[in-house]
Amino acid sequence: MPDQIRPQPGILDIALYEGGAGHVAGLSDAIKLSSNENPFGASEKAKDAFLRSVHKLHRYPNTDHSGLRQAIGEVHGLDPARIICGVGSDEIIHFLCQAYAGPGDEVVFTEHGFLMYRISTMAAGATPVEVRERERVTDVDAVLAACGPRTRLVFIANPNNPTGTMIGLSEIERLADGLPPQAILVLDGAYAEYVAGYDGGAWLATTRPNVVMTRTFSKIYGLGGLRIGWGYGPKPIIDVMNRIRGPFNLSTTQLEVAEAAVRDQDWVDRCRADNTRLRAWLAEALAEKGVPSDTSTANFILARFADEVEAAACDTWLQSQGLIVRRVTGYKLPNCLRITVGDEASCRRVAHAIGQFKALAKPRPEPETGLPEGGTVQGGAESGAA
Ligand SMILES: Cc1ncc(COP(=O)(O)O)c(C=O)c1O
Repeated sequence: MPDQIRPQPGILDIALYEGGAGHVAGLSDAIKLSSNENPFGASEKAKDAFLRSVHKLHRYPNTDHSGLRQAIGEVHGLDPARIICGVGSDEIIHFLCQAYAGPGDEVVFTEHGFLMYRISTMAAGATPVEVRERERVTDVDAVLAACGPRTRLVFIANPNNPTGTMIGLSEIERLADGLPPQAILVLDGAYAEYVAGYDGGAWLATTRPNVVMTRTFSKIYGLGGLRIGWGYGPKPIIDVMNRIRGPFNLSTTQLEVAEAAVRDQDWVDRCRADNTRLRAWLAEALAEKGVPSDTSTANFILARFADEVEAAACDTWLQSQGLIVRRVTGYKLPNCLRITVGDEASCRRVAHAIGQFKALAKPRPEPETGLPEGGTVQGGAESGAA
């Protein structure tokens, strides 16, 4: 490569995003609990829309996304003119950084915040500013203290990934009120649908000139494979983002499937109810086995282990049992594993496997049976549990 061909300053400092693993070598039926996907998939109505869209493949999609924006507006009680749709909410995050942050500007997010905040900040040439959390919960005072004249954007995921914790409306309001005048508060609501009665920050984004909300179809809608997200906020900010949005950023299939999905709120309600029930069960089952977690408000649990060595060993053990969870060392949580709440069978399987792991890790009295050292752990002390 000739020396003269080089990317913009800072681009080579961006660490590649690592997604949740999708398979275990040698196993074809591993259960993936590493990417916070909906184990129940997409609604039948969304799938039907997908099949119908095949007849329109030769046509360019609508550029203004009016049908989808209208549907989102109706379902959420929002003004469609203040909605922008993107290739996942990742793209909305990217638009915000590209449009509002550049060299010399700062973008603030929390220490265990979603990795794309850093990547999009650096891609825009701006400086990431990471703020400590208080016991894995956003600390509004610390965020406000980190803001200054260079701050252009503040990203807060609520609920947060990978901690699963969230802060209340009064805290978010305090944050919005306390920001410097040139800064936008971005409330990332990727997991908002998992919290009954929570609007994801829509009301704040309706009433404040400096608040934007992002949402996704990748989680509760079960459409991670199709890549659709949206943002909502003050009209001038949406207009700015539309200037840098590619005219055909979403395909006809994406638009029509998302529209059918958002109109099927019965499916969302069922998935939320199942997630709430199974999440409580899983958290309690793990706690009983000596693996604590913070109260999660999302579709995953952040399981805490004694240290990085134990978390890594448990991850390896789970993989050997055909269970893929997420190491979160990149999120500065080396002693934790993020486990997506799967369907009932997956929850039982992961709880059972972690129980086996903990039982094996315990110092045990000398075996009287003469079992071989390091023998197989399948069917070990807790087999049949969970
Ligand atoms: C907090 C948070 N925000 C945004 C996203 C991006 O979602 P998508 O681009 O699939 O809409 C994710 C995905 O995991 C997330 O966890």
